[in-house]
Amino acid sequence: MSEMASEKELSAYVETTRKEIEALESLEELDEISAKLKSKRSPLGAARASLGAIEDEKKRKETGRLVGEAMASVMGVFDARRMVLEKSARRQALEDDRLDLTEVVLRSLKAPIQRGHAHLVSQTQDALEDVFVAMGFEVAEGPEVETDWYNFEALNIPPGHPARDMYDTMYLDLGEPETVLLRTHTSPTQIHLLESAVAQGTLPIHAVMPGRCYRLDTPDARHLPVFHQIEGLVVDHGITFGDLAGVIETFTSAYFGPDIHSRLRPAYFPFTEPSAEFEITCTICHGEGCRTCSQTGWIELGGCGMVDPAVFEAVGVDPDEWSGFAFGFGIDRCAQMRHGIADMRALIENDLRFTRQF
Ligand code: PHE
Repeated sequence: MSEMASEKELSAYVETTRKEIEALESLEELDEISAKLKSKRSPLGAARASLGAIEDEKKRKETGRLVGEAMASVMGVFDARRMVLEKSARRQALEDDRLDLTEVVLRSLKAPIQRGHAHLVSQTQDALEDVFVAMGFEVAEGPEVETDWYNFEALNIPPGHPARDMYDTMYLDLGEPETVLLRTHTSPTQIHLLESAVAQGTLPIHAVMPGRCYRLDTPDARHLPVFHQIEGLVVDHGITFGDLAGVIETFTSAYFGPDIHSRLRPAYFPFTEPSAEFEITCTICHGEGCRTCSQTGWIELGGCGMVDPAVFEAVGVDPDEWSGFAFGFGIDRCAQMRHGIADMRALIENDLRFTRQF
């Protein structure tokens, strides 16, 4: 092209360059050409550089416009080609990343992929809920983080009470020191239920309350620092200790089997009066006497008793009008007894050889 580019020359140049660009097959080639096109030594660069030498102003402007238009159309072709090449590069990258899963799919059709299932503790909780629902109880839940009031004080365990020593408590760094804690038992849910029944005027209560509890214990064959309890609470007119004993016995045979029975032995809990420990026939020796039950034929499962009037008073229930009983026992312990699990730690180790057995 001569330095004084004519319109014809320019359009011929645009046309050859368009063909050249459209023949490019890779982004790398495109980048090379781009540098060349934009350089001062390219035909259009040179034409632009020589504009100043055109003396006639009208001619100079006209040529400048033509060179500008030629540049714009070359760049348009260039950008269009870049888009096409980028799109196909993306498609190629996706294609390269594609995994051939045919074999996996075929294999899974022959032997279906194994799915997980509920953990033994969850299964046990479900089964316990089923037994109590069949006996007419509702299922309720309460929070795992509690204040001292719910976990202790409302349950007739004021600060400094020796019964606090039964519960090695994990406190949270919230509020005043030692006021917010991880519940050490499910009994604080009794207080939540009583409070809302009073507020809504919905007494009586017949409920079980399962859930996770925490104590600062070292794990061993019979204890876990994070464990599960199920709490029971019945509050109605004229409830007696006989009702409590009947519920415990009915539950025991329904859950563990007709040859497993319960018995109550005097005990102490600040929130029940009288209180009892309940024991069931040893599920290992069926009452014959063995190492697990220290030759007694009985195994302790939980605590129970008649709701202490002090608890009713703490939540504003009239103890002259209402009476009730409560019980609480370990869900993990139930699983252990029913399935003869020697060491409770197996429940949290997540060894598939163990969990798959249930
Ligand atoms: N909350 C008691 C415990 O964990 C058990 C219990 C519940 C006792 C209800 C009496 C009534 O030790």
